[in-house]
Amino acid sequence: MTERKESTKRAASTPTEAPTVPIHVRVATEADIPPLVPLLVRLKRLNEEFDPLLKVRSDVEAQAREILRHDLANPRAIVLAAEGVGPDKDRVIGVVRAQVRDRVFYTPELEGVILDIYLLPLYRRRGVGEYLLQEATARLKEKGAGLVTAEFPTQNEIAARFYAKRGFRPITALHARALERA
Ligand SMILES: CC(C)(COP(=O)(O)OP(=O)(O)OC[C@H]1O[C@@H](n2cnc3c(N)ncnc32)[C@H](O)[C@@H]1OP(=O)(O)O)[C@@H](O)C(=O)NCCC(=O)NCCS
Repeated sequence: MTERKESTKRAASTPTEAPTVPIHVRVATEADIPPLVPLLVRLKRLNEEFDPLLKVRSDVEAQAREILRHDLANPRAIVLAAEGVGPDKDRVIGVVRAQVRDRVFYTPELEGVILDIYLLPLYRRRGVGEYLLQEATARLKEKGAGLVTAEFPTQNEIAARFYAKRGFRPITALHARALERA
């Protein structure tokens, strides 16, 4: 079964401000890169299931490692790692990657963009995503963001519903068409 189907079949629950499953969220460090890479790769592979124009590159792992290394050194970026508890204690089970960006034509002048948010399937639908979003939003605000946005594939209905439930609405769209090779 694909992750997309597995995730969708989980029973719905009502998320609260605190997650109903205990987790620990912290700012990621270099030591977290090895466990964070597979989570980012799983997210990109999930996106590939939604849209053939998001076909994952063969060097996706190296790219994920490089992006994380870059983000950890970037004062405008945020990488949060979520750890499980009990048997999953010290195991990274989720990630958020976000950045503060300039809005050169609009006000507020800085926006905080959630680029990637991913939780292992067992931890979903229990308010953990909401908690990660709150934590990331608070940190983006501290960095001066006056607006929080989220980038995700249009066809990713999980993300669309997740964000819509939290008051996000589409403000710009990226439309694509493949080009034939010469
Ligand atoms: C997006 C994600 C982080 C949300 O985390 P979560 O802990 O499941 O979210 P919460 O429990 O806080 O909120 C659940 C809400 O999110 C939405 N949602 C979560 N999973 C969903 C699914 N499989 N299908 C539809 N909506 C879903 C719904 O609005 C849901 O509310 P409901 O349970 O009342 O229907 C998590 O589902 C995930 O990692 N998904 C795969 C990766 C992904 O798509 N990331 C977003 C693109 S970058």
